[in-house]
Amino acid sequence: MKILGFETTCDETGISLIEFKENKKLEFKILAHKLRTQVEVHSKYGGIVPILAAREHKKNLPILLDNLIKETKINLKDVDYFAFSYGPGLPPALVEGKEFVVRLAKRYDKKIIPVNHLLAHFYSILISKNKLNIWQKVRKIEFPAIGLLISGGHTILVHFESFEKFKKLGETLDDAIGESLDKAARILGLEYPGGPKLEKLAKKGKPLFNLPRPMVNQANFNFSFAGLKTAFWELVEEVRRLNKLEEAKADLANSYQKAAFETLIIKVKKALDRYSVKSIIVTGGVISNLTLRKMFLKFFKNKKIYFPLKELSTDNGINIAFASYFFIEKALEPEKLDINPITTI
Ligand code: KG4
Ligand code: ZN
Repeated sequence: MKILGFETTCDETGISLIEFKENKKLEFKILAHKLRTQVEVHSKYGGIVPILAAREHKKNLPILLDNLIKETKINLKDVDYFAFSYGPGLPPALVEGKEFVVRLAKRYDKKIIPVNHLLAHFYSILISKNKLNIWQKVRKIEFPAIGLLISGGHTILVHFESFEKFKKLGETLDDAIGESLDKAARILGLEYPGGPKLEKLAKKGKPLFNLPRPMVNQANFNFSFAGLKTAFWELVEEVRRLNKLEEAKADLANSYQKAAFETLIIKVKKALDRYSVKSIIVTGGVISNLTLRKMFLKFFKNKKIYFPLKELSTDNGINIAFASYFFIEKALEPEKLDINPITTI
């Protein structure tokens, strides 16, 4: 079975072709992977401009598809399903992706599989190699698990009994963690997307500044990062007034990352205290951060932890094509398999 997956929820245009063996042994091969980021388009505005994101998807989708066809020599008649990420995401960007896929599916008379973007981030941990054209097995996961999705748009804690049966435990009440890292980076004068640049700068510094760990003493699994960002802005202004900003930037970056990341760790620890689980799943763009990976591995060294491959942590078409397979195989109704609204176990 061949699936073509499309990702256009935010500022990455991704198209990937995955083949699954019909032997039910959950073996698959990534046949092609095309990804175009829009960083240059948005960086001058300091964040993503939804209408520009949509315009870029419109421009990039046919180009990437053309490249994919040339590379694989695939005839789209031989693709079984067209999967696309229906959201959550930026509405204008989602519309471009959906319209493109609907037109294509009509032309080739194929079925469309709408995939929830958040679940695709979770399912991505089942892939252990990002190599083209090699057969590989779907990774086995020990359930039940506590799952944490940390991206530019979301910070969500989920209890998974399995990948089909889950319950949302909590989420951010304001900014997502990735958004907060991007904003902190901007306060330090770093360009969008700031997360990776903040990571690099933080490596040169120490956690010398005190910042809050928001909501860690509350008896719930929600997050809030807006106050942390404001506290950071005030701190940076104070350091600037003392004419010490340039020399303190790396320490400030390090201190911000530490406060934000420790908050995540404390909340996951609370979930582990409450629920007896076998493993922890951490996924989404922010887990590209190697410092955070190390913190999780160190803090939860007695638990099994699953991360996606670094290159599959941020948005891409592989995650979408891959996740859709499980909806098809298990005859699940994709729209019903959604983290929002809360699914109860
Ligand atoms: O999952 P993703 O690609 O898009 C959404 O679904 O939102 O996540 C993008 C987010 C951005 O906020 C970006 O700054 C952050 O992931 N990110 C990082 C790193 N790489 C990407 N944050 C911290 N450290 C990184 N290395
Ligand atoms: Zn994402």
